[in-house]
Parts: sequence; structure tokens; C-alpha cells
Amino acid sequence: MNFRAAGPFVLFRKEDGVTHWWQDATIYQIYPRSYQDTDEDGVGDLAGIRQRLPYLRDLGVDAVWLSPIFQSPMADFGYDVADYRAIDPLFGTMADFDALLADTHAAGLKLLLDFVPNHTSDQHAWFQESRSSRDNPKRDWYIWCDPAPDGGPPNNWMSNFGGSGWTFDDATGQYYYHAFLKEQPDLNWRNPQVRKAMADVLRFWLDKGVDGFRVDVIWHLAKDPQFRDNPPNPAWKPGQRDLDRYLQRYSADQPHIHDIIAELRDVIDSYPERLLIGEIYLPVDRLMAYYGEDGEGVHLPFNFQLINAPWRTEVIGPLIDEYEAALPEGGWPNWVLSNHDQPRIADRVSEEQARIAAMLLLTLRGTPTLYYGDEIGIAKAHIPADRIQDPWAKNEPEASFNRDRARTPMQWSAGPHGGFSTVEPWLPLTNDLATCNVDTEQDDPCSMLALHRELLGLRKREEELRQGAYTRMDSAAPVLAYRRGENLAVLLNLSAESAPLDLPDRFARGEVLLRASTGANGGPVPDQLPGNEGLVVRAADG
Ligand code: GLC
Repeated sequence: MNFRAAGPFVLFRKEDGVTHWWQDATIYQIYPRSYQDTDEDGVGDLAGIRQRLPYLRDLGVDAVWLSPIFQSPMADFGYDVADYRAIDPLFGTMADFDALLADTHAAGLKLLLDFVPNHTSDQHAWFQESRSSRDNPKRDWYIWCDPAPDGGPPNNWMSNFGGSGWTFDDATGQYYYHAFLKEQPDLNWRNPQVRKAMADVLRFWLDKGVDGFRVDVIWHLAKDPQFRDNPPNPAWKPGQRDLDRYLQRYSADQPHIHDIIAELRDVIDSYPERLLIGEIYLPVDRLMAYYGEDGEGVHLPFNFQLINAPWRTEVIGPLIDEYEAALPEGGWPNWVLSNHDQPRIADRVSEEQARIAAMLLLTLRGTPTLYYGDEIGIAKAHIPADRIQDPWAKNEPEASFNRDRARTPMQWSAGPHGGFSTVEPWLPLTNDLATCNVDTEQDDPCSMLALHRELLGLRKREEELRQGAYTRMDSAAPVLAYRRGENLAVLLNLSAESAPLDLPDRFARGEVLLRASTGANGGPVPDQLPGNEGLVVRAADG
């Protein structure tokens, strides 16, 4: 059913107590190359993920998002798709996918795929045709421009991964645009045939029963039709990443994007209860537009505010308040701490504070996305120079974060190759494998894994944690304090120093439901919050 055609559009309908599944859910991101290898090639696969479904069910997450699994030459590890309807043999077959989808649903979990619409691989049949001649019917499916008068690139748009965003193609004497690698030519989303072809791709997977998509770099889909130069970024200094050299005023986040998204949303809404998430790195004011006018945007514009913020109460507190205040009516919040492009949370804020970060992520209002491996506290990974895989790190070795450090294999046991594979994995495991692995943490009630299970269990049991309002409470830094609903309070010490707690009486006399440091519950509320401690508290009369 197309809701929009049916009359005034209601984004989040809660009549009759109905909540959309994804408002109550925790999403778990899997980087498939690194989850579980079953065919002994050192790279994870679909059969491996399927084998680990009981682990995910016991952990207490609700939906699994897989980074791309489609046929790809892997120039950007699957974010360069050569066939949107085929599984890459590295990951398995379509039969493996169907079995994974069926078993995921049988385990009571949802499955989300990664949709990569901004660009294809240069090996995609569409691009092969497009580049074959200027009058090929698919020429306009990509972004081709004549050289500038001096023969150089048509404008100053840069590739996010370094260097010009334009590559000259000898065969036809024009440049094509790529916001990422030259092996990832951007599609022309102004072309109606492109939009139709991509809508058909969505339908192909929706017909199979997938529960939704995370849409890669969605804010990049619409570009300035006049291809104006981007203005220089005054804050950029030589040696910094090319990505930040110019403000991306014309190469991304154009008004036309919202029409494109509304079309994608129509496809999604023609199936019941499917979810559309957008990957969007923009400041809050621009991010909010992605909910769409009248809620016809993505359901969840990924909220990355916590990823880049300095880990200080004075920063994190206002950031949460501002995000909450900026949400449009009916816009459902969401929170992300890390992903396959960003430093691991335990690497970024310290292993002790990663426990506080987990409590924050899983007690804020809105859908949390948990990145695989964060639940066992994978922290520092060392990637020797001769094992670097990330194409961005290879392009800009001095300037960019090496994303390999966030993509190392899941550590299942202290045994050979961490139980991930029987052969040397594509990226090394971390040096603390002996203690940082599922088997070892499984039986330790104080482990990071146990803390995640407790937090996810609490979130499931306590409706106020899922649906209650977020209200900031008075507290002096380094304590961050907020209430969820009427009866739950979350008290987080974002430092290693103990700090006084000055709580309203009903919380001061309340009961501790969970302690971040030990994963334990019970006991009275202290009047000092130890360093690196976090508490979820129920009010005495709650
Ligand atoms: C997104 C992905 C990233 C990829 C890029 C190009 O940011 O998360 O991994 O390299 O898009 O597709």
C-alpha cells in the first residue's frame, strides 16, 4: 500500500499502541568479510554469519545489517558493486543467502542489506556500456563531462578518497565523475532509467523478504546540475585529507535529493514494515531534512554526532539535547558509536570508557546501532604496513585513518586465528586476543560481552528505556545524567575521577538496575559516582 496516496501521511503511527519494529529494535552491523570464515579462505562468508545466529539471538539484538555482499571486484571491499542482484562468490551463493534470510527470520531477527546507489563498480555492465561510446543508450547513466578548456578536469570536485573526482577516459575523450575511487563511477540519478533500474533492485531484495536497507552515502546522490566549483574550506591545511579540502557545497546534499529519497521511500512503503536508513555525514540542522517533509524521507537518517565528538560531558550532554530538540515532529531518533569507516569506540575513548559508551548507546532514546566486535571490546588493532588493505589508506597514507583497524576479524575464541578461520585471516587479530574473545568473556559476568547482554536485556524489559522521553537531569561534569520516562535515571561518569551525585530524592533512594563497571545489579544508589562508572537507576517510587 502506498500510504501517501491514501491521504494525509502519518510517519510514525502509534495508534492502538502500535510501534514499528525498528523503533524498539537494536541494529547490529556485521562487516561480512570479518565475521566468520567457513570456507577456509581467511575471509568471512554468509554461511559463517548463519552459523553465528544463535550468538546474535542470545546477545539480544533485533536486526542484523550486512555491509555489501553483492558481486564486486572488491576495489572498495564490496562498496563497488558489479551486479546488484548477485552474491559475490567470496561470500557464497544465492542459496546461501536465502538460507541465511530464512534462518535469521526463524531466529526472530530482521535482516537489512546495504544498498549502494551512488556509484557502481567500473566493472558493472552498465558502466562498460556507458563508456563504450558517447551515443551508447547508457552513456547518460553516469556523469560524463568535457574537459575544461585547458584539458583538465571539468571542475574542482575531489574524490573523498584523495585526488580529483574526475578521471579521463581516452576511448571517448571525456571525464567521468567518481566521489570515491576511480573504480566507483557515480551514477546519474537525474536519469529516470537509472532511478527505475535501482528501484527494481530494491524490489528484487524486498520480494525475497529482506526487512530493509541501509543506503550508502545517500546525501551524495544529487549533484549540482551546473557542476559549479566547490568553495575552498578555509580550515583545510596541506597534509590534511582531500575530502576536507573544499566544502562540498555543490557535489552533495542538493535540494533534489529529497525527491529521489521520496521515490525510494515509495518503493519501501509498497511493502509492509520495511526500514530505510540513510548514511549521512552532515551537521544536525542539515541532517534533519532527511526525515523528509511530511516524513517521506528515510526512516532513520544515521546520527553520527557521537562519532566525531570529543568524549567530554560538556560536549556530549549538549550534543544529545540539541539532537533531541532538532528532531522534526514524528522523527524517530537513532544513535551510532562506530562503524566500519571509523575508529573503534574502545580505541577512541579508552577501554574503561567504552563501557560507559555502551551504556549511553543502549539507554538513549532511539534506535541504537551496535558495531560487531564492540560488544567484546575490540580496541586497538595493529595493521603492519605490508598488510594494509583499505584503498583510502593506500591513497592517502599520511592523512586518512586506516579503516582496516575497524575491520579486523571477530574474535570468537582464544584459539588459532581467534576461531574466525582455520587459516591466516585477511586482516590480523588484535594482540589481546587471549582475553578479548567471545569464549573467554562468555563466562565472565564482569566482561564487556556480559555488560552488553545485560544492557540489551534491560532495554527489552524496560519499556521506558525504549519508548520513554529523554530528559536531561541537573548534574555537574563529569557526570552526565538523564531520565528515561518518569522512573529511570542514567548516571554516567565520563572521566576516571570519582564525582559527587546530587540526585532528586526519589532517585537518590532508588535501586541500581545495572552497573557499567561490573554488569551487576542491585544495591542502593551511592552519593559518589566512581570514575569510569555508570548506573541505571529506578526511582524509589517507580
Ligand atoms: C560509505 C561506506 C564506505 C565506502 C564509501 C563508498 O561511506 O560506508 O565504506 O567506502 O561509502 O561507497
